[in-house]
Amino acid sequence: GWVRSVRSQKENLFFHVNDGSSLQSLQIIASSNLFGSAVEVRGVLKKSTHPKQPFEVEAEDIQIVGKCDPVEFPFKIKKRHSPEYVRQFPHLRCRTNTFSSLLRIRSEATAAIHSYFKQEHGFVHIHTPVITSNDCEGAGELFQVEATCPQDSENHHFFSVPAYLTVSGQLHLEVALSKVYTFGPTFRAENSQSRRHLAEFYMVEAEISFTQSVEDLTKVMEDMFRTATEQVWAQCAEDVDLFYKHVTPGHRETAEAMLKKKFTDAIDILQRSSENFVFPTDWGCDLQTEHEKYLVKHCGDLPIFVTDYPYDIKPFYARDNQDHPQHTAAAVDLLVPGVGELCGGSLREERLDLLYLDLRHFGSVPHGGFGMGFERYLQCILGIDNIKDVIPFPRFSHSCLL
Ligand code: 4AD
Repeated sequence: GWVRSVRSQKENLFFHVNDGSSLQSLQIIASSNLFGSAVEVRGVLKKSTHPKQPFEVEAEDIQIVGKCDPVEFPFKIKKRHSPEYVRQFPHLRCRTNTFSSLLRIRSEATAAIHSYFKQEHGFVHIHTPVITSNDCEGAGELFQVEATCPQDSENHHFFSVPAYLTVSGQLHLEVALSKVYTFGPTFRAENSQSRRHLAEFYMVEAEISFTQSVEDLTKVMEDMFRTATEQVWAQCAEDVDLFYKHVTPGHRETAEAMLKKKFTDAIDILQRSSENFVFPTDWGCDLQTEHEKYLVKHCGDLPIFVTDYPYDIKPFYARDNQDHPQHTAAAVDLLVPGVGELCGGSLREERLDLLYLDLRHFGSVPHGGFGMGFERYLQCILGIDNIKDVIPFPRFSHSCLL
């Protein structure tokens, strides 16, 4: 038939169709609510007169490829949903503007980091293993990998030694070439539901041989941060703007200036403050999130490199500054607004007599390196409060959705 009239009411379209056999037209009711559905549209792409929308398609044919029931669909049209609500639907999160922007930014930031190390600075990308027999950080936050060889009557254990998901690729990087990096999944069985901890996260780790000073390491950390962030700003301007409009404005100046403070001075700032900290601020104690956030605020919301930590609170691989009696480590952490610790690095202990490791047996050299949590980096540059909102499928204690 031929359409004689069209009218839309609420979520329905009403057509009157007449085929010429009588005066009677047939009313056709079609749902116009395609919210959430997948469609294929054929038509003519034209310039639009609407200022916010440069182009539009004059549709000739619309096919519904995958129907979606808008009543059951968890997201509602023109409604802003909280990140906590959206997080309950990991398989549908990318249907929201915020999360699809995040995924594009995450992809660009990944490319920017590879480009910084590999193309621009000649580092070699090493695939460090996900399954390992070491606990690099020595903190015991390991996920054990269990597998058996039932047909092996002598030894049922697959690896014959206890094996774990990696907590850091550092020790594997230390034995590879002279300028190397890795960027892969990292696992920590930390029983934490905090806004900056995940059980599975991505870490960028670099190791540089013949490095003699923490300043050299700090330069690479700062340069990597700035270069990658500038690339993300340039390539994803529209997506980044969305975060500044809807999430928390003000973090864009992060890359502008970075300060340097010795651990002793940081402790001094904390002890002089009138803040009631939960954790102690004594010299031999490690900085907690509350301290890190306070220090960043105190320094005008700028990133700070804190160096020369007490030797005893750093892992076994950090080299000491040989400065008895204070006994500090040649280590540096980068603290950033909104997050606290973003990177941890140090010169490495290369003296065999102090390490007892085969790693240092054959031609050991002075070297250093650092690791940056990729999700915390994204939180920092986008001002995102919760780490669970910067990774496609967050894993944390008591949660492994999908
Ligand atoms: O300070 P961490 O534990 O240092 C290392 O693992 C070194 N082996 C790295 C190296 O020097 N190659 O971790 C490095 C960074 C932290 O600064 C933090 O940004 C991130 O990794 N990180 C986490 N991110 C999310 N969830 C967790 N549970 C994290 N634990 C560490």
